[in-house]
Amino acid sequence: MKFIDLDRQYRRYRGEIDAAVKQVLESGQFIMGEAVARIEQELSGFTGARHAIATSSGTDGLLLCLMAEEVMPGDEIITTPFTFIATAEVIVMRGAVPVFADIEPDTFNISPASVEEKIHQRRRAGARLRGIIPVSLYGHCPDMDQINHLAQEAGLFVIEDACQSLGAEYMGRKSCALSRYGVTSFFPSKPLGCYGDGGMIFTDRDHLAEKLRAMRVHGQTERYVHAMPGINGRLDAIQAAILSAKLPHFEQELEARNRAAGLYAELLREKAPDIVPPVVRPGCTSVFAQYTVRIPGGKRDAAVRMLREAGIPCAIHYPIPVHRQEVFSCLDIPAGAFPEAEKAAGEVLSLPMHPFITPDEQEQVVDTLKRI
Ligand SMILES: Cc1ncc(COP(=O)(O)O)c(C=O)c1O
Repeated sequence: MKFIDLDRQYRRYRGEIDAAVKQVLESGQFIMGEAVARIEQELSGFTGARHAIATSSGTDGLLLCLMAEEVMPGDEIITTPFTFIATAEVIVMRGAVPVFADIEPDTFNISPASVEEKIHQRRRAGARLRGIIPVSLYGHCPDMDQINHLAQEAGLFVIEDACQSLGAEYMGRKSCALSRYGVTSFFPSKPLGCYGDGGMIFTDRDHLAEKLRAMRVHGQTERYVHAMPGINGRLDAIQAAILSAKLPHFEQELEARNRAAGLYAELLREKAPDIVPPVVRPGCTSVFAQYTVRIPGGKRDAAVRMLREAGIPCAIHYPIPVHRQEVFSCLDIPAGAFPEAEKAAGEVLSLPMHPFITPDEQEQVVDTLKRI
């Protein structure tokens, strides 16, 4: 059994993917060009965001947004301590300081109440608070209306880290198009993955889109004319073509992921009722980038052992909250500072999840888990 079965997916769409790659090879246009413009247009249509700017990765997409906001050393950005390191890493890459706010225990997403508290706390301390980066973890959006409202009141920008949530819905709108910026990732294991690194920024604002397009190519506004700082942050044409070949199947894949999530929830309820399945809030859908359960009572590590012994792959997203990572020891945040994030790190477990998982495979996973 595979944790995410990319082989099965490739075999299913092989003809279309191979033809798309061949077309790029024959075109001789490997950097930017038609394939990149096409996936930008397709995903702008898909998300409803006015602009889509393809990037070399989700990480570079997040970094470019901070560059577009001219985030400076010493500025402060509020984010979640329970995420992949890239979310906080880009903040320090600008010399800015991550200010963590604890998560909600049901969705594992940043809590608006904690964000509000942090805004007041840092404002009172005279800090240069600039923005908020909420993460749509595991494919489910946080309470973006509340977060946007708090940001607007405090004059902060919002970047939705939607690296795990392309395709998710929030109150009738699509993830990536919920705030000033949305950034997704096409890392191979993501719901819409390419065969290397890739990402995309979404925004409705024309002037920011123009700035981001320049910044992704060394700040270039005309050939060898550089008006602003930038990076090499482009998406490869081959990766763009692969994404366009996969995109027509994406909605169906999301339906299959949701069917599999429904079956997991049913099986867990029936056979392992102590294990807490993921929550989908009213008005939201999840793309289940990860199918992450909570195993309370100190039994998570035993569950990992049992699954591994049975040859079933699983993963922990994430075993160490960001504020407890060695790289952030300089922030001097003590253990216990974010109790919900720290508790989650000891209890979460991601089970095999992809559009091609079979009911038999899912039953095997839950039958093994029920023994704990
Ligand atoms: C929440 C989150 N943020 C950022 C990233 C970074 O994306 P990438 O790997 O494309 O740089 C990822 C993906 O790995 C992620 O899951």
